[in-house]
Amino acid sequence: MIRQTILCCGFLVVLVCGLLVSPAAAQQDETVCIQCHGGLPDALGVPVGEWRQSLHADNGISCHDCHGGDPTDFAMAMSPERGFLGAPDYTAVPEFCGRCHVGVLGDYQESAHGQALQAGGAQCVMCHGNHAVQKASLDLINPESCARCHDYERADKIKGILADTDGKIIAMEEELARLGKLGMAVEAFEGQLFDLRNRFHRAFHTVKEARVREQTGEVLAGLETLRAGVDEIDAGLGQRKLWGGVAIALLVLAGILFLQMRKTYEEDEKG
Ligand code: HEC
Ligand code: HEC
Ligand code: HEC
Ligand code: HEC
Ligand code: HEC
Repeated sequence: MIRQTILCCGFLVVLVCGLLVSPAAAQQDETVCIQCHGGLPDALGVPVGEWRQSLHADNGISCHDCHGGDPTDFAMAMSPERGFLGAPDYTAVPEFCGRCHVGVLGDYQESAHGQALQAGGAQCVMCHGNHAVQKASLDLINPESCARCHDYERADKIKGILADTDGKIIAMEEELARLGKLGMAVEAFEGQLFDLRNRFHRAFHTVKEARVREQTGEVLAGLETLRAGVDEIDAGLGQRKLWGGVAIALLVLAGILFLQMRKTYEEDEKG
C-alpha cells in the first residue's frame, strides 16, 4: 500500500514537471545567448534584433552556430572550453562563414577579393552584412556597396553577364511550376535546375569576368538541355489535346448520325 502511494506520488511529480517544462521546451529557440544579449545595450544587444530578421534565423542558424559556446548554460555560455569563438576580426571572417558555405569560400579565396584580403579586399560581411543576412541576389551589386573601394565599372560588367542568365533561370523555374501544376513529373528537372542555380549563384564570388563568363556558359548549356526536355513534355501535351479533340469530334459525329438514323426510322414508321 505504502509502495503504491509512493509510486503514485512519483507519477504525479513527473506529470507536473512535464507540464512545467513543456512551455520552456516551446521556447527552445530562446537560448541563453538570446535571453542575455536581448537585454544588453548597443553593440551587444543590436545583433539579436538584426538576427531575428535574417535568413539564418529562418533556417535555424542561431548565435552559437556561428560564434560557438554553450547555448544552455548562462554561466559557461561564453567559455572557450565550451567552444566559444568570440567575434572574428576582419581577415578571419571568410573562414568563419566558410565553415558552412564551403563552395563559396573556395571560389572566394581564389578571387581578387580573397587574394587581397590582408590589404583590404572585400570579405563576406562587407557585402552580406553580419547579423541581418538576407537572401542573396544581384541587387547586392550596386554602386553604393561596390564603389566603396574601387570604381563601379568592373562590378557593373559582371552584373550584366549574370543578369541575362538569372532571368533565364527564373523563367525556367516558372515553366517547371506550370508543368508541375498540370500533373507532369518534373522532379528530375527541378533537381537539375536546383544544381544549376546553385552553381550559378556561386560564380559571382570569383569576380573574374572570364571565369564568370565560362561558368555562365556552362549553366546556359544546362538550361538548353532542360529546355529540350520541357519542349518534349509540351509536345506530348499538345498531342494529348489533339487526340482529345479528335475523340470529341468522333463522339459528336456519332451523335449526329444517331439522330439522323432515328429521324429516318421515325419517317419510315409514319410512311
Ligand atoms: C549572462 C549574459 C550573457 C550570456 C548568457 C551570453 N553572453 Fe555574450 N556577452 C555578454 C557580455 C556582457 C559581453 C561583453 C563582455 C565580454 O566580451 O565578455 C558579451 C560578448 C559577446 C560577444 C562579443 C565578443 C567579442 O569578442 O567581441 C559575442 C560574439 C557573444 N557575446 C556571443 C554570445 C553567444 C554566442 C552566447 C551563447 C552561447 C552568449 N554570448 C551568451 C553577455 C552574455
Ligand atoms: C551568420 C553568423 C552569425 C550569427 C548567426 C550571429 N553572429 Fe554575431 N557576429 C558575426 C560576425 C561575422 C561578427 C563580426 C563582426 C563583423 O565583422 O561585422 C559578429 C559579431 C558579434 C558581436 C560583436 C559586436 C559586433 O556587432 O561587432 C556580438 C556581441 C555578436 N556578434 C553577438 C551575436 C548574437 C547575440 C547572436 C544571436 C542573436 C549572433 N551574434 C549571431 C556572425 C554571426
Ligand atoms: C564583393 C561582394 C561579396 C563578397 C565579398 C561575398 N559575397 Fe556572397 N554574394 C554576393 C552576391 C552579389 C551574391 C549573389 C550572386 C547571384 O545572385 O548570382 C552572393 C551570393 C552568396 C550566396 C548565395 C549562393 C546561392 O546559392 O544562392 C552565399 C551563400 C554567399 N554569397 C555567401 C558568401 C560568403 C560565405 C562569403 C565570404 C567567404 C561571401 N559570400 C562573400 C556578394 C558577395
Ligand atoms: C553554421 C552554418 C552557417 C554559418 C557559420 C553561416 N551560414 Fe550562411 N547560411 C546557412 C544556412 C543553413 C543557410 C540557409 C540555406 C541556404 O540558403 O544555404 C544560409 C544562408 C546564407 C545566405 C543566403 C543564401 C541564399 O540562398 O540566398 C547568405 C548570403 C549567407 N548564408 C551568408 C553567410 C555569411 C556572410 C556568414 C558569415 C557571417 C554565414 N552565412 C555563416 C548556414 C551558415
Ligand atoms: C572592402 C573593399 C571592396 C569592396 C566593398 C568591393 N571590392 Fe572589389 N576589389 C577590392 C580589391 C582590394 C580588389 C583587388 C584590387 C583591384 O583589382 O582593384 C578588388 C577587385 C575587384 C574586381 C577585379 C577582379 C579581377 O580579377 O580583376 C572586381 C570585378 C570587383 N572587385 C568587383 C566588386 C563588386 C561587384 C563589388 C560589390 C558587390 C566589390 N568589388 C566590392 C575591394 C573591394
